[in-house]
Amino acid sequence: MTDSTSPPPPAEKSAEKPAGISRRGLLGLAGAGVAGIGIGIAADRAVLAATGAGSGAAASATRSYDFYGTHQAGIVTPAQDRLHFAAFDMSASATRADLIELLQDWTIAAAAMTAGKDIGEYGAVSGPYDAPPEDTGEAQGLPPSGLTITFGFGPTLFSTTDGVDRFGLAARRPAELVTLPHFPGDMLDPAASDGDLCIQACADDPQVAVHAIRNLSRIAFGRAALRWSQLGFGRTSSTSTSQATPRNLFGFKDGTANIKAEEPAAVNDQVWVQSGDSTAWMTGGCYLVTRRIRMTIETWDRTILREQEAVIGRNKGEGAPLSGGTEFTEPDFEVTGRGDEPLIATTAHVRLAHPTENSGIRMLRRGYNFVDGNDALGRLEAGLFFISFQREPEQFTTVQLNLARNDALNEYIRHVGSALFAVPPGARPGSYVGAPLFA
Ligand code: HEM
Repeated sequence: MTDSTSPPPPAEKSAEKPAGISRRGLLGLAGAGVAGIGIGIAADRAVLAATGAGSGAAASATRSYDFYGTHQAGIVTPAQDRLHFAAFDMSASATRADLIELLQDWTIAAAAMTAGKDIGEYGAVSGPYDAPPEDTGEAQGLPPSGLTITFGFGPTLFSTTDGVDRFGLAARRPAELVTLPHFPGDMLDPAASDGDLCIQACADDPQVAVHAIRNLSRIAFGRAALRWSQLGFGRTSSTSTSQATPRNLFGFKDGTANIKAEEPAAVNDQVWVQSGDSTAWMTGGCYLVTRRIRMTIETWDRTILREQEAVIGRNKGEGAPLSGGTEFTEPDFEVTGRGDEPLIATTAHVRLAHPTENSGIRMLRRGYNFVDGNDALGRLEAGLFFISFQREPEQFTTVQLNLARNDALNEYIRHVGSALFAVPPGARPGSYVGAPLFA
């Protein structure tokens, strides 16, 4: 992903030879019972896949996206099918140097994994017999599977909720990077919210996404620890016109009116931080919102089709607006039906989320479905792990405030997790993600 003005092409594998992992990083890993992650890249898993050991999935499995670029990958990249998202907190003893070295080590590992390679010099099975393998090994034989790894910084990285500036970053915090406000109806679990750092791993194979988060968590040992994480499936958005619109767990097409990579003007206007917007180090970056939204599936499934469509404002089969036309017809909020009632109700989700109701605001949605088993009452612990990328957090808060106050959908959903992260621009080859923050 090097150019915001064109659709994201499947990038070639990075030819960049990674710098060696820091000594401090090695010490941290040794403490975790991991020894010997070093310079270089181990076996190319795609080659192993070609020998027949791979997933055998579609041709898209061999697609890889370069980790390095102007913007981070995993934003306008065509949304992959699977997600593993993780938020981390820095350890109490971590220093600024630890943070920088962690980002350097993560960059090297992310560049290797997105290219379909094991991490470290020897990878999963070629290292010393008397040391734990550098790579955990469960992605051996699997192709890159379109893996992207996207990093973000939470408000607490800059200063804690008590105002402590642990890493000398308080003066560099963008003014807009503050914990999201409380919205009407929020029932947030603090243990599934916020965090100092985040990593979004998306791939077309769940094992590849999980492998990425597992190995990055292991590298962080002693410096940062997992705070919460979320698995997701069945992308609930299209981020490219090349993709068919998927469906969320309410059975509706989701992502129809999303910003697409093929709209460079909208991407620049609504997604990428522009020079002069904010602190200079954020130029080319954006802000990432996550909302863990529990969906009361059982209630929804007892709701009549007419009501389901009225709640969304689109029909369930094709995803066309209730004002008429086909999926990609613009909704007409003025058209009325029987009794002079608008065909798209004043409380319909698509009306309240539409740019005309929100001063022209849009956002790039990139969420995933989740089903995390069931609760004690036998109800599915299921919902939408909402992810949006935008130029300013205010884009999300404006729309969410409108939805939280008026959306008919609120009867069937509950927001239980929330986080905001600043996503720095892409890393340059030879450098590391977030380097401009420390310059
Ligand atoms: C479980 C919760 C949610 C469900 C089931 C849901 C579902 C949908 C569906 C079916 C559509 C119509 C298809 C499309 O254009 O993508 C839609 C549109 C949209 N949703 Fe949601 N959504 C949810 C939460 C949210 C949240 C939290 C936000 C942002 C605060 C949001 C923002 C939007 C926007 C901006 C649109 C496009 C509106 C337009 O321009 O027509 N949604 N959503």
